[in-house]
Order: sequence, then C-alpha cells, then structure tokens
Amino acid sequence: MESDLAGWNPFKRKKTGAKAAGDTAGRTDSAHSAVVKPLIREAHRRTPEAGGLPRFNTTAGDQMSGRGSDRFAVVRAKLRHAFTPSQPVADRRLFAGRDEVLKTIIRSIEDQRLHVVLYGERGIGKTSLMHILTQAATEARYIVVYTSCGANSNFDETFRAAAAEIPLLFHSGFSPTAAEAEKGASLADLLPNEPLTPRKFGDLCARLTGTRVLIILDEFDRAESGAFRRDVAEVIKNLSDRLGRVQLVLAGVAADLTELVEHIPSIRRNIFALRVPKMTEAEVLQIVANGEREADLKFDPQASAFVVEVARGSPYIANLVCHHAGHAALDAGRSMVQPADVASAVDRTILEFQGRIGTPIQQHVRRLFDQGRQDVLAMTSRAALAADGVFDASDVEASNRISARKAQDAIEILVAERLLRSLHSEEAGQRYSFVEEGMPTLIWMMWAQRNLNGGSAAAPTPRAAAGS
Ligand SMILES: Nc1ncnc2c1ncn2[C@@H]1O[C@H](COP(=O)(O)OP(=O)(O)OP(=O)(O)O)[C@@H](O)[C@H]1O
Ligand SMILES: [Mg+2]
Repeated sequence: MESDLAGWNPFKRKKTGAKAAGDTAGRTDSAHSAVVKPLIREAHRRTPEAGGLPRFNTTAGDQMSGRGSDRFAVVRAKLRHAFTPSQPVADRRLFAGRDEVLKTIIRSIEDQRLHVVLYGERGIGKTSLMHILTQAATEARYIVVYTSCGANSNFDETFRAAAAEIPLLFHSGFSPTAAEAEKGASLADLLPNEPLTPRKFGDLCARLTGTRVLIILDEFDRAESGAFRRDVAEVIKNLSDRLGRVQLVLAGVAADLTELVEHIPSIRRNIFALRVPKMTEAEVLQIVANGEREADLKFDPQASAFVVEVARGSPYIANLVCHHAGHAALDAGRSMVQPADVASAVDRTILEFQGRIGTPIQQHVRRLFDQGRQDVLAMTSRAALAADGVFDASDVEASNRISARKAQDAIEILVAERLLRSLHSEEAGQRYSFVEEGMPTLIWMMWAQRNLNGGSAAAPTPRAAAGS
C-alpha cells in the first residue's frame, strides 16, 4: 500500500494559490522569487567582514566597543548592572528592601550572640542578604569570612580556610607586637597537621580577644556530607558553650530547618533561624525603582504593576522580567518601559523556564490551560509560591480567598492529573507539592500572561475567577 507521503516533494511548488504572505508553499514562482531575491541579497551582505555576525557591545574592560551600538547603547550597558537576574546583589544601591530581615539578623548576632540559620526557597535573596550583612559587619570591624559551600565541602578545609583569615594578633596567647603576629600570621598557623576537629577549632576560637568573627557558610544545602553537617552543628555547640567570639551564619535552601542542619535538637537554643520571606509589593517596586535610577530608564506605572503581579514576591523573577522588559523597550526605540514590554519579557521568561521543566509535564500543563483548567492551576500555584512549594488546602483557601471546598476540589483535580504530589507527615498532616520545582512559577507566569497582559489592574485574578 502506498503511504500518504508518496509523491510528496517539499521542493516542488504549486503554480497557484498564493494567498497569505509568508506562505511560500503556495506561491507562484514569480511570487516565490520575490521572496527569495532579498534573502539572496542578504546572504551576500552577511559576510564576516561586513560585520553581519552578532558581536559584543562592550569590551571586557567595560568600554563601549563602538560597533553595533545604537543610540541607547549606554542605557543598554547600564541595564546590565541595573537588573542582575543571574547574580546576587552586592551593591547597596541595588539592594531592595529587606530592612526587617537584616535588622533581625543583626540583632541576633549582636545582642543575643546567637548563630544564625537563614533558609528559604531558591532565588529568594539569601546570598544577596549575606553580601549586605558582610558589608554591615565589616563596617562594625567584625572579621567576616564568607564561604560558598559545594557538594564536597568538608570541615577541615572549610574551617582551616576560615582560620587563615583571622590574624594571630587577636589570639590572647600572642601580643600584637609578637614577631609572628607582626609577620601577618593567622590562626591557621596554629593548627595541627592532622584533620581539624570541631573541638580543636572551638578551643582556638575561645582564645580570641579584641575582635569578633562571623563565618558565613552560604549554599549550605549543597554540602552533601553528613559528617560535615554534623561537625558544623558540633562546632556551633562548642562555640556557644565557651562564649566564643566566633559566630556562624548558615544560609541555604530548605523548606524547613531540619533539612538544613541535622542534629538540630542539640543546638536549637544556640541558633536563631529565619526564613527569608517573599518580598512585599513595595520591595519589588523598589527593585524596579533602583533599576530605573541606575539605567536611566522609566517604567510606566502599569508596567511596574505588571512586574509586581508576575514576580509574586520573587526578587529573581522581578530582576529577570525587568531586565528583558528594559531591553524590549530599547529595541523599540523607547526609554519608557510599557506594559507591552513587560508582556514580551514574560514571554521570554516563560521560554527560559520551559527548559527547566520536563516536556511531558509542560505539555500536560498546556493541555489543562486549553481545557479551561487555568484557574485551578493558578490557584494552586499561588498557594505553592506563597508557601515555598509545600502547601495544604488551607493555603489554597487563604491565598485565593476561596471556600475550603473549592480549595480541596482544586487540589484533588491536580492530584488526579498527577501534577501534585501528596505528602503526609505526622506533624504537618496532609500537604502537597507540584511534581517539579519550577512548575508553580511557570504556571503562574503563564496565567499572568494570559490574564494580566497589558498590566491592567482590573484584570481578573483567581480570587475573582473563583467567584467567591
Ligand atoms: N534585596 C534584593 N534587591 C534586589 N534584587 C535582589 C535582592 N535579593 C535578591 N535579588 C535578586 O534575586 C536573585 C536571586 O538572589 P540570590 O542569588 O541572592 O538568591 P539566593 O536565595 O541566594 O538563591 P539560591 O537559592 O539560588 O542560592 C538575583 O537576581 C538577585 O539579583
Ligand atoms: Mg545563594
């Protein structure tokens, strides 16, 4: 039997029926050549010498290269520093909000002499907070040692490196004029050759005088070794018992604290644990305002409102969307960012996010959107985003102001679709999470794109859509 494709020749063109522009398959030969000719001219024009290939606009030394720069080239260059979706903020001028969080961390370090554990979802701003904390503590003449943990972090290496940052002149056994102290030796020079233990490190720190030390262990969740986590808990206990002048600050991704530090019961009294909350609307608006100032761009108020809605308290999404929206405005020859620029930025962000989620799941979500299930998806995503991923029916109820019944129905629909995973624990009861981490963000952006496009403040929200 002949297949449907028999005789099909993609290169053979019909002689008639050229209707829609761009429909090359149905063009007459002359219409076709009208399309092809300019392409051929373009092909000849695009030689490397003619500068046809994309180039960098700025040199590695941050100088404008002069090539390919438009009249907004300077603004474009500034935009790169104004919104930094791929980097933590280290510049105070760009650091938005978080006053309360910082104040609380500083008080617990300064007044209560506690060790601090800072936890929260990916991209919520832990590292940025650590950078600003580092600056504040350095101003107060603390010695601050910042370490970003990795999968292979171990106690010996991490704390030896920390000891190397503490000058020997602060050790009570050496006078500041001692030859070793003057030569710039550090506590690391007093460490034995055998692997460093929490006890040994604690002993050494107990001898410090005339200074205070903060050891920041960022990305603590990345450290895979149980022994490392146990030793860190041990050193916290040790330092606390001896009223040491060294305090630890641990930061990492965790839904709850016990995930971050094992052996928590033994050090519970010695640590202050703080979950980094979602940003408020005012804080997200400050990100926009900081960027406007840095880049010499303006966001139309509707555009700013759209950013706030899409970001839902995530500084990462706010930076990403503002970054793309700024470029979209410049591409259109404007220095005023319009809601339409934010809409195209959301499109780009959605595309970027798609790469992080399995294709079958994405297709499944799109199918549900097309089947009119978008409100169920949006309501549960809203709850997931508000609760760092793990939520229960009351979260869905509260974050959408809908009835308990509607919230439970929404959950059950998505459990049946196998998009929600059901988690049960003695303490927390029945809770749920989406089957992939990035899903609530992606779904929320897809929903916002369809419903808030144009930044209309009057656009329907799940609250309204739920009809409650
Ligand atoms: N206070 C802030 N003001 C402005 N932008 C911020 C702020 N906090 C975080 N951001 C932005 O949010 C994004 C994530 O920040 P950061 O890397 O600090 O988060 P994180 O919690 O350490 O993330 P991860 O869990 O991946 O380590 C970055 O783009 C950063 O520029
Ligand atoms: Mg981080």
